[in-house]
Amino acid sequence: MVNFVVSKPENRFGFALYDFLEEVDSSSLLLSDGVADLNYGDIFQTLKKGFITETFDGIDYMITPNSFFQSNSEMALQMYRKILSLTRGRTLDLYSGVGSISLFAASAADSVTGVEVVQEAVDVAERNRENNEIENVNFICADAAAYVKENTGKFDTLILDPPRGGMEQKMLKYINEMAPERIIYMSCNPVTCRDDLKLLEGYNIDFLEAYDMFPQTPHVETLTLLTKK
Ligand SMILES: C[S@@+](CC[C@H](N)C(=O)[O-])C[C@H]1O[C@@H](n2cnc3c(N)ncnc32)[C@H](O)[C@@H]1O
Repeated sequence: MVNFVVSKPENRFGFALYDFLEEVDSSSLLLSDGVADLNYGDIFQTLKKGFITETFDGIDYMITPNSFFQSNSEMALQMYRKILSLTRGRTLDLYSGVGSISLFAASAADSVTGVEVVQEAVDVAERNRENNEIENVNFICADAAAYVKENTGKFDTLILDPPRGGMEQKMLKYINEMAPERIIYMSCNPVTCRDDLKLLEGYNIDFLEAYDMFPQTPHVETLTLLTKK
């Protein structure tokens, strides 16, 4: 999938993309007219297809231009298999994107609730759930911190996969109050992950593994299992 984020709702590429479109599965034009350097925006033209599909251990994921999906599929699959092996009981998957972890971990859980703030991702997650005929998962479009504040005490396993900026401080306070038995924390930022782990005071770190999700860069993805003291 290759998308172009442009500042005016016009296709000025004309025939320049003709050969290029032969080479890709999906391409869209997205509008973002602010000054920020963004990789998402309002889809105003689909040049080709508008989505791609990735398959992990028999689960098909539809991925659209504005919804997050791990870019390194091989490493993501290793991490999801590990998460599956650690998941138990009623499970809450915060920052669930297109439902990749929620759907993958569903077979080990009694139920999974995925919470994601981007409506497009939640709609795709729901389609992914239906397409894969997985019954014990539901998706909610909400801010993760607001959801956790309102829903304390209902979950055995908490899965966290926040954006690079990490989690808000109030979120860590709500998680301590919720006190799930185990927390599976996937992070693409070891610095914010370290800071967050320090504030999850009621938990032991059972293990922390690093995965080379972004080869040839200084970035690394980590997976941590925390269990209640
Ligand atoms: C690192 S991605 C993880 C996605 C998914 N778990 C996966 O493995 O594909 C982080 C996700 O958090 C979502 N997000 C960012 N801020 C959020 C918030 N305040 N509440 C809920 N979701 C949020 C983003 O839209 C994005 O889908």
